[in-house]
This record gives sequence, structure tokens and C-alpha cells, in this order.
Amino acid sequence: MDEKSLTDEEIKKIREDFPILKRKINGEDLIYLDNAATTQKPKSVIERMENFLKNSNANIHRAIHTLGYEATTMYENAHKKVANFIGAKSMKEIVFVRNATEGLNLVAHSWSSRFLKPSDEVVLTIMEHHSNLVPWLIMRDKIGINLKFIKLNKDGVLDLKEAESLITKKTKLVGVIHASNVLGLINDIKPLREMARNVGAKILVDGAQSLPHIPVNVKELDVDFFAASSHKMLGPTGIGVLYGKRELLEEMPPFLTGGDMISTVTLQGATWNELPFKFEAGTPAFVEATGFDEAINYLESIGMERIFNYEKELERYVYENLNSMDFIELYGHKAGDNLAVFSFNIKGVHPHDAANLLDKFGIAVRSGNHCAQPLMNYLNMDNTLRASFYLYNTKEEAQKLFVALEKIYKLFNR
Ligand code: ALA
Repeated sequence: MDEKSLTDEEIKKIREDFPILKRKINGEDLIYLDNAATTQKPKSVIERMENFLKNSNANIHRAIHTLGYEATTMYENAHKKVANFIGAKSMKEIVFVRNATEGLNLVAHSWSSRFLKPSDEVVLTIMEHHSNLVPWLIMRDKIGINLKFIKLNKDGVLDLKEAESLITKKTKLVGVIHASNVLGLINDIKPLREMARNVGAKILVDGAQSLPHIPVNVKELDVDFFAASSHKMLGPTGIGVLYGKRELLEEMPPFLTGGDMISTVTLQGATWNELPFKFEAGTPAFVEATGFDEAINYLESIGMERIFNYEKELERYVYENLNSMDFIELYGHKAGDNLAVFSFNIKGVHPHDAANLLDKFGIAVRSGNHCAQPLMNYLNMDNTLRASFYLYNTKEEAQKLFVALEKIYKLFNR
């Protein structure tokens, strides 16, 4: 067995684990290339949640009956699973949220309210997803902070020279997307972290696109916050994770309030539950937590290193092909490490028309502005097609995409 990547045989086996991959779309085998939006689920994840609902369903942290105890244990174990998966010190650093967006909002609202004052600066990048931009726009208007944006250099990667000039003593936080959902570009966190550390600023990483594909260890990355979503890594929707360094989370006020996040409540005030539950108000997504736990089991059983290596092979293969087609306008992938996420257009064809026609071939891609309008404007990109691959995709599927793209081009350019 190839220890470094996935073998053809293994991928065949992996594909068997995903019931949806047997679906026909418009009479064709489904080719699912919209993984940056959401990923498909293996049987084990579906069955784990079904099993929980059939046998153990009860609310957590409230009842002492057997089902309540089982549900609580599974919910807390899911935190431990995530902590172990990303290398956190303990589950106290693992806050379950609805998705990466909620995790990023939690930091923007809670951390800022405690630590930011007017004229402080937050440095972001031009390639942030709206989820790590809009909350900071709100904070700018609410607190009076200033926002600065690191742009790209001529190679199409983050301009670290510009970052050096933007990150100053006034900077209190640097926020960066780990891997771009538009360009596929994987940002090198280390230099930005060092710049942040040198001025005493915190660093927040949006890991929604990276955690599903790249081995991540928050201790090694040494970042203060890291957010990700379960549904982009084979798990269910409705649950995600915010990692935060314990000492920071301890000092931050709650974000959402209500049941379970309190220790005591009187009509005069309240005290907060211990971490991570201080940040988990109300009945949480405990069914989904079991699915998230199982998704991590699945990824770990294959190994993130090998998944990443396989996807790098796919990335090179797809890049070389798309780049050699003169009727394709491909964005990014010029430099740096990249995920197998490709934004492109077929010359003379609107991406929504192209996506619609690709669907006739059974191929699912996204078209639009990909929730990153400032990046699209900056790069003079209008709407694009986006094909995003995952561990169950194959070169054969990519070949079918290339053939379909050429047919669509010819149809519009006769
Ligand atoms: N953020 C997701 C995407 O890029 C939804 O498609």
C-alpha cells in the first residue's frame, strides 16, 4: 500500500462508503465537485446519527436518567475527539458552534467587546470569506476600530511585505483565511503569526476550507483562534468548532446566553458555566455532534496526511489540464500550495449557463461570487464556475469534467 497517498483500490473502497455517489443525475453518474460548499457523508456518519436517534436520544447536561447520561457522555466525547484531532490541549478549548461562521462571529463579538477600544486595528486579508469580514465591519461600526487588508502580490499570494507594514503596534488582531474557498490558495500562517506576536496581537484563523483537507495542529500553528465546520469535512450541518486558547476563552464574556451556559442565576445577575459550556447556550446540536465525531473517525482511519497528498495529486492534474485549455480562463494556482479548488470560466459562456449545462452531464459545481465579493472585485473576477474536489473524487471524474467543458464551449462558440 502507498503510505503517502491513496491508492486507486482505496479510492474505490472509499467511494463505496458514500451512498449518494451511486446517484444518477439526468441519467448520468453523479460527479460531485461542490465540496467547498458542503461534502457528502459516509454511511458510518449517517448510521451513527440514526443509531443515536433510535437508541440514545435525550437532552444533555440536564437529566440523570440513563439516556441523558449516555447523550451527555457522547456529546462531551465528541469535544474530546475534536480536541485530539486538531491537537488542542483539552476539550475546554473546543467550543461547539453551529458552523465556522458562528465561531468567527463569537470571536468578533465576544473578544472584541472585552479587548478592543476605538482606533484599535484589526488586520484581515482581501481573500476573507464574508464570514470573517462582515462581523468585523459590524465591530468597526460599533466600537470604532479600523480595519486594514493585506492584498496579494504579483504572484497571487498574500503580500507579506505589505503585511509587515500593516501590522503595527496598533494592531490587536490578525484574521486570516487558512485556505481560500475561491482560489484554493493555502495561506502560510506562520509568518503572519510571527508578525502578530511581535506586536502583541492575537491571530484568528478561518479553517473552514483547510481542516477538511490539511493536517492541522493548533499547538504547532500556535494560533489563538481557529474555526471550522463539520459539514465541510464529511459530518453533518448544524455543528462546527471554535478552538480558542483557554486563557483567552476564560477572559471573554459569553456570546449567546440562556440555558446551560450559566452556573447560577438570580434576578440580580448570573455567573457562567465552565469552559467550553460558557459559550454553548441552549440545547446544542448533540445529535450532530455524534456525526461530527464519526466523521473524524472516518478521516483519521485514512489519515489526513495521505488525504492531503492525494488531493495535491488531483490539484496538479486538474491544474495542468485546465491551464492547457485555451478556452478556459483559470484564476489563481500560479504559486504557493493550493487545494484542489478551481475558479474558472469558459470563454464566452456565463458561469450560471455553464453550471446548468454541466448539471446535464451529472456534474455538480458551484457558480457565483462564492461569498467573497471583495476578493472577486479586487481580482476583477465577475462570477465564476468553481470545481472543488475531495478524497472520493477521481482523475476519471476530472476527465469527464474536461470533456463536458469543451462540449459546452463548442456549443456557445459555433
Ligand atoms: N463557504 C461555502 C462555499 O464557499 C458555502 O461555497
